[in-house]
Amino acid sequence: MPGSPTSRGRAFGQKVGFTMRGLSGGAAIVTGAASGIGQATAIRLSEEGVRVVCADVNGTGAEQTTKSIQGAGGTAIAVEMDVTKSALWKKTLDEALGAYGQVDYLCNIAGIVNTLGPDNVIELDEEHWHWVIDTDLTGTWLGMKTVLPHMLERGRGSVVNISSMAAVRGLLDLTAYSAAKGGVISLTKQAAMQYPTVRINAIAPGTIDTPILGDVDVDFSVNHIIPRLGTAGEVAGMVAYLHSEDAAFLTGLVIPMDGGWSAKT
Ligand SMILES: NC(=O)c1ccc[n+]([C@@H]2O[C@H](COP(=O)([O-])OP(=O)(O)OC[C@H]3O[C@@H](n4cnc5c(N)ncnc54)[C@H](O)[C@@H]3O)[C@@H](O)[C@H]2O)c1
Repeated sequence: MPGSPTSRGRAFGQKVGFTMRGLSGGAAIVTGAASGIGQATAIRLSEEGVRVVCADVNGTGAEQTTKSIQGAGGTAIAVEMDVTKSALWKKTLDEALGAYGQVDYLCNIAGIVNTLGPDNVIELDEEHWHWVIDTDLTGTWLGMKTVLPHMLERGRGSVVNISSMAAVRGLLDLTAYSAAKGGVISLTKQAAMQYPTVRINAIAPGTIDTPILGDVDVDFSVNHIIPRLGTAGEVAGMVAYLHSEDAAFLTGLVIPMDGGWSAKT
């Protein structure tokens, strides 16, 4: 919930200790803004002076994040949308342009894991394969396909896509998710090559303490060198940094935000 320090490590409205250059006054679309990393990112960008579109298939949750931002003096609107539907992406862009006249930052954060059935290569069924690939990979592509023309027209913009360490480390029974997140890395590099006037980067988080982890009784922190889970606020801070002028020379980059996991052999 907004206001809870549990998932972000600090309460909403508690100002960050430093700000990122060049973010203030811009406008962002943040998908997955109802929960976890997306919610923390919407809040963090707002704290940086960015006007935010909180987009999520969970419209009530998106509305709650929006109200929290507004309550703290920020500017936000909520859009209920499904990232797998191109028509809803167009509607989201239209609403963003109607409200703010521009989109400077696209945060492709919405995502799912397959919790509805087995996820090994043989037993995974086609329906669940497509559900995860559509949400985690196609949704990211559709976001860029929809918003990049606007950014190219303005000659500026920044995109941050969320991959996962599951894309680059062998994890058991995350077949569709790992494949989708690997695709996000490839897609990020392709897009960065194709559109040099827009910066396009990705983050590959380790295990972050958000509702996506569900009730599974596994200590995922053992993968990290830093012996804990990451927080959504920490990932949100990296999203803000990648969008900022401080990262003006970074594009096509995939940042492992993983408590040191990628340093381990
Ligand atoms: N938490 C982790 O350990 C972790 C690690 C690596 C990567 N990630 C990635 O980070 C991103 C955010 O995940 P989170 O941990 O904050 O999880 P979360 O479950 O807290 O948030 C995911 C959000 O995405 C939204 N969403 C799902 N399907 C959607 C759709 N079709 N259209 C629009 N919105 C949709 C959900 O409603 C939810 O608000 C995901 O892409 C996830 O794969 C998470």
